[in-house]
Amino acid sequence: MSDTILEIKDLHVLFPVHKKWLPAVDGVNLKIEKGEITGVVGESGSGKSVMSQTILRLRDHDTNVRYEGEILFEGEDLLKQPLNKIRDIRGDRISVIFQDPLTSLSPVHTVGSQLSEVLTLHKGLNKEQAKEKAIEMLKLTGIPNPENCFKQYPYELSGGMQQRVMIAMALSCEPKLLIADEPTTALDVTIQEQILQLIRELNEKLGMSVLFITHDMGAVANLCHNVKVMYLGQVVEEASTEELFQNPLHPYTQGLLSCIPHLGVKKGEPLPVIEGSVPPLSKVPVGCHFCTRCKMADQHCMEHEPPACEVAPGHVVKCWKYAESGKQEV
Ligand SMILES: Nc1ncnc2c1ncn2[C@@H]1O[C@H](COP(=O)(O)OP(=O)(O)OP(=O)(O)O)[C@@H](O)[C@H]1O
Ligand SMILES: [Mg+2]
Repeated sequence: MSDTILEIKDLHVLFPVHKKWLPAVDGVNLKIEKGEITGVVGESGSGKSVMSQTILRLRDHDTNVRYEGEILFEGEDLLKQPLNKIRDIRGDRISVIFQDPLTSLSPVHTVGSQLSEVLTLHKGLNKEQAKEKAIEMLKLTGIPNPENCFKQYPYELSGGMQQRVMIAMALSCEPKLLIADEPTTALDVTIQEQILQLIRELNEKLGMSVLFITHDMGAVANLCHNVKVMYLGQVVEEASTEELFQNPLHPYTQGLLSCIPHLGVKKGEPLPVIEGSVPPLSKVPVGCHFCTRCKMADQHCMEHEPPACEVAPGHVVKCWKYAESGKQEV
């Protein structure tokens, strides 16, 4: 048996913009091993959500979307499965947590009945066992009065509480893979830490793999084994978390990291920013996607797309600066 749980191969996700098919995800390769936590970072509009939602075909409802490539989950290509098969996988072998909890919770059922259903259906528990486990999960996500919450409807709860219920639901079926897209952004810092701790525990105890999408580099440093940096639909750098923080190579990664106060900025100095903003899909540059904002870009960068090169074991960079030094292309 292979140790790879998810392998995305040359994934393109295209939407029609001004009568042309344009890629929001543009040739992404990504592999997650069993028990591995992979972080995905990048500014708004870099394709993190489109990429992660495509794994469970959550963009199929867009009237126009086109996929190319493969998404192999335990060896099966999810892009080729019928949607009813994908629904069976969702909430059982793969769970998702998104920023907006109401997309995952039913407004007409109590929190308890929704959580119990997951547990009876996927874990084979009886009613009593399911109730006990549901209350335990609610407690683990930091809900102060879980017995009471069990009886409530989602609309009776605050946004932060709804978020925690959704997290409890996603984790209670003990998935093999958790996809978490900015799962804690709406929560206050102490609760955020509690949720990250819960994810870490399930990873260590059950070997749950995680695809963790975030803007929070601190959370990446605390939780993830390795990191992919995305820019305009592409992975521009990937490495182990330690390597990426110690030796960021892509000018974009360097820019992202220098925006964190304690890394590379002296006290009292203003935070640097990456100049300019992420262009819309219709304005993606021809050559290196980052060239319009890169201080090091030259004519060659503007005209030709750089290859992804492995500069050290597991450390891959998509930038001409490293390609030219004759490093191995992947
Ligand atoms: N249905 C659609 N039609 C056209 N373009 C789309 C569609 N859905 C998403 N996009 C575009 O795809 C790009 C990637 O969006 P995505 O939501 O994946 O970014 P993101 O990295 O998750 O950003 P954020 O950090 O803000 O969540 C954006 O340019 C977005 O406008
Ligand atoms: Mg997003």
